[in-house]
Amino acid sequence: MCGIVGIVSNKSVSASIIRALKKLEYRGYDSAGISTITNGEINEQKCSGRVDNLEKILFQNPSSGDLGIGHVRWATHGIPNQVNAHPHSSEVVSVVHNGIIENSDKLRKEYEQKGYSFKSQTDTEVITAMLTDFLKKEDLINCIHKTLEKLEGSFALGVIFKNFNNLVVGARRGSPLAVGFGHDENFIGSDSYALKSMTNKISYLDDGDFCILYKEKVEFYNSDKKKINKEIFELSSEDNIADKGDYKDFMSKEINEQSTTTKKCINEYLDKSRNEINIFNLPINPKKIKKIRLIACGTAYHSCLMAKYWIEEFTSIDVESDIASEFRYRKVKLDPSDLYIFVSQSGETADTYAALKKCKENKIKTCGIVNVVESSIARLSDFVLPIHAGPEIGVASTKAFIGQMIVLYLLTLKISKERGDINLDEYAKLVLDLRKIPSLIEETLSKQKDIQVIARDFINAKGTMYLGRGYSYPIAMEGALKLKELSYIHAEGYAAGEMKHGPLALIEDGIPVVVLAPKDRFFEKTISNMQEVIARGGKVLMITDDTSETMSENIRFKFQIPKTNSTINSFLLTIPLQFLAYHVALLKNCDIDKPRNLAKSVTVE
Ligand code: AGP
Repeated sequence: MCGIVGIVSNKSVSASIIRALKKLEYRGYDSAGISTITNGEINEQKCSGRVDNLEKILFQNPSSGDLGIGHVRWATHGIPNQVNAHPHSSEVVSVVHNGIIENSDKLRKEYEQKGYSFKSQTDTEVITAMLTDFLKKEDLINCIHKTLEKLEGSFALGVIFKNFNNLVVGARRGSPLAVGFGHDENFIGSDSYALKSMTNKISYLDDGDFCILYKEKVEFYNSDKKKINKEIFELSSEDNIADKGDYKDFMSKEINEQSTTTKKCINEYLDKSRNEINIFNLPINPKKIKKIRLIACGTAYHSCLMAKYWIEEFTSIDVESDIASEFRYRKVKLDPSDLYIFVSQSGETADTYAALKKCKENKIKTCGIVNVVESSIARLSDFVLPIHAGPEIGVASTKAFIGQMIVLYLLTLKISKERGDINLDEYAKLVLDLRKIPSLIEETLSKQKDIQVIARDFINAKGTMYLGRGYSYPIAMEGALKLKELSYIHAEGYAAGEMKHGPLALIEDGIPVVVLAPKDRFFEKTISNMQEVIARGGKVLMITDDTSETMSENIRFKFQIPKTNSTINSFLLTIPLQFLAYHVALLKNCDIDKPRNLAKSVTVE
């Protein structure tokens, strides 16, 4: 949840570090800092708030030096202030860290007894003390290795040393760290996105690895201090496209490009001439799959919940969806004939990654559905299905959610066809319908102004409910999450049929309630649930493809989505909910791309 960067170069690095930190700010934005070696001394500068604040400080006190490290923070230990900001430095070492050191209290006591004092409340500062102490009696490699061995928990580290003023050290366990190769300069960063403006040649550390960057070379070591080689990936130039263009913020860009991204994704998997889905070589023969489990967090979990309905509908396979932070600690019966699917936009979410590792350790076949193909989850999965959504910068996930659902739907139809659970005619029709999704999304996107008018109903609400049945239920969950994380208004996604079992007590005069009511087999039942809400004063925003005037005199507002095959309504129901959350947050002057307390990639548990 933090972002780290390190550079060793033949020229001053502070401007490049600041530029990289700005690209990493989506990972955390409580505080920021930089350390360089200037005139043979460690020069640490840091502040609370955004990278812009750090830039102002550097403008007053320029930080020279041709090697350095930088950090943007999402607070785990210690409030977000200047003292707790990274880097954390001693006279001879400076450290930036992403992750959680679980034995930091014990280590702090141990090093206090050795005479070390601590200025901050962070877990990271113990690493500085340990490196400083080991440097007194070990060479560099052993100093690094002994420190890493004593640490428990997760880390991606960037370290510079006063007495080794030609190198930067990186290390990884559980939190991602990329290595970039330049001309007479080399880089480390929390992800390749931060390094793309400086290089397109990237390697990735695996858990236990550490590296030593010089400006002319990079040395990699494994957890046994053995020198190793690392594959170098060449990133495509298209991956560099991550700017807002004419949009006010990344989120509005990413919502509005969903017809384009879904078209790109479908084209990647569909042979249009044969109307065939090109997904082959699953790690388990589709005919032999006994159970599918879908594992993820947050919005990605909602795409899994959606896929559960599709897999139940179109295959004879037993299916479960699970929240990764729960699954990873449960004593689940892991069966080698089960297929486990891990969904993650960033591919770095700690809970999802840990759940994947648990499956790998038990010889379970795994499939990763990610947006970042070089991510940890992608590299650990037996089989990867990218969603091709392009970099998603807004912390609230939008185009990635739609992309996850597209890939899960494609995978479901392919497995179903391979097993003979649906006949070829039905398969062909479903694939033809799927191909219409981008244009249907485009049509829905064109109506965003209709949703803007209703946003005002929500800004002073003390809470709200999002209701849906069947395929609409996962989308109700996702819509509620969007409103929560963008506008900070409490919202609950609920199965419409469950309201009478308690939550109906929440409904009182003026409460806004979103009801997803497409004209599917649940329509009449959902209308009844809606009437129960209206009868108690609820102000209903109805989202439907029904063109009749059903209930129109009693509902507050109706948003019309285009008519389509009911199994793919979910893609269209999602769009107005994204816009609703966006416009409510705008009215409340919330930070659209960087909501409070959150970060884009949750790489700590
Ligand atoms: C989505 O809007 C949230 N920002 C969050 O729930 C996110 O979906 C979750 O943290 C999972 O992230 P991932 O897809 O990168 O694994």
